[in-house]
Amino acid sequence: MGAEVVIEGLTKSFGNQAIWRDVTLSLPPGEVSVMLGPSGTGKSVFLKSMIGLLKPDRGSCVVNGVDIVTCSEAKLYETRKLFGVLFQDGALFGSMDLYDNVAFPLREHTKKSETEIKRIVLEKLELTGLQGAEHKLPGEISGGMRKRAGLARALVLDPEIILCDEPDSGLDPVRTAYLSQLLIDLNAQIDATILIVTHNINLARTVPDNLGMLFRKELVMFGPREVLLTSDEPVVEQFLNGRRIGPIGMSEEKDAAQMAAEQAHVDAGHHDGSGAEDLRGVVPQIEPTPGLPERQGARRRKDRVMQILHTLPEAAREGIIDSLTDAERARYNVRSHRRPPAASFRGSLHETQEIARLPRQDWRGASGR
Ligand SMILES: Nc1ncnc2c1ncn2[C@@H]1O[C@H](COP(=O)(O)OP(=O)(O)OP(=O)(O)O)[C@@H](O)[C@H]1O
Ligand SMILES: [Mg+2]
Repeated sequence: MGAEVVIEGLTKSFGNQAIWRDVTLSLPPGEVSVMLGPSGTGKSVFLKSMIGLLKPDRGSCVVNGVDIVTCSEAKLYETRKLFGVLFQDGALFGSMDLYDNVAFPLREHTKKSETEIKRIVLEKLELTGLQGAEHKLPGEISGGMRKRAGLARALVLDPEIILCDEPDSGLDPVRTAYLSQLLIDLNAQIDATILIVTHNINLARTVPDNLGMLFRKELVMFGPREVLLTSDEPVVEQFLNGRRIGPIGMSEEKDAAQMAAEQAHVDAGHHDGSGAEDLRGVVPQIEPTPGLPERQGARRRKDRVMQILHTLPEAAREGIIDSLTDAERARYNVRSHRRPPAASFRGSLHETQEIARLPRQDWRGASGR
């Protein structure tokens, strides 16, 4: 099972520019999480802080008992091996072909023979649809291919934690759908803890177990996917629907006067830039490809979420209960269709402690605090 990542009070600034403050969240082991947020809110800075490439001002990021923020260089080097990271720009070495790029972590961090390395590299290149391109240089392939090569490289050390910074950017819709399936299949096969940063609403709605959002230098919310997908927090609603109307503007934030002017524009009959359909609401999550093992993370998440059900907003509760099968309803003792099983709490001590650690505001909107 992948490692848990426990982040508490993480705060980052560059000089006098505050990026985000007091970010507290736990990535549950072996579950898939997505972080949303408008451009420039510091999502990439957040991922880099999680692996110690950037140094936060305050707070902690603990993996297997090691705090990435304060540990020694030697511990950091050791702990980083648990991570597979796909950087936003792919971060490939321009002078090496794809084969050598993907082989690089194996040559750097393991004593594997070249025969073994070849087997692994070709397997990961095939997994990401790059077979036949191994002798191309990064400058000779498309942006989407570079992204997939970055993902292949992130996977070679069989990481316990996979961080993906906009894995879908530069991919066409069909390849994005394949990528979504690939991430779920990977999770089913290796039970890694996965965090994906994306702007892709379709991916955010269908892939993760947990969803969060950064905005205005804060974590607006982080919790079970159903909470964000049913949230009526204006910033979440605007983001999910890709509307101009709402608190997010071209340069991230708007003032009240601008919001009122835009609303008046729409009220006067002008289109607000969104699609016709309201994209809020819980849609089914992608399942692993038939023949692959069941996702252990999904099973554990169900137990976890059913234990905290009574603390969640009503719309999220309904979404969760609606997604249960009859067998699960019997198992969790959900009698009526939409009533949370407040009296049927049967968690192990470990699970109880894990839930107790999660701060309530993790699944609340900023205005709910
Ligand atoms: N090394 C750095 N030094 C100084 N400022 C930085 C550095 N890295 C990032 N920033 C600033 O931090 C802010 C957040 O950047 P970041 O790249 O994390 O945004 P993002 O949410 O990933 O945006 P996007 O969705 O466009 O990728 C930006 O204002 C950026 O200029
Ligand atoms: Mg970024």
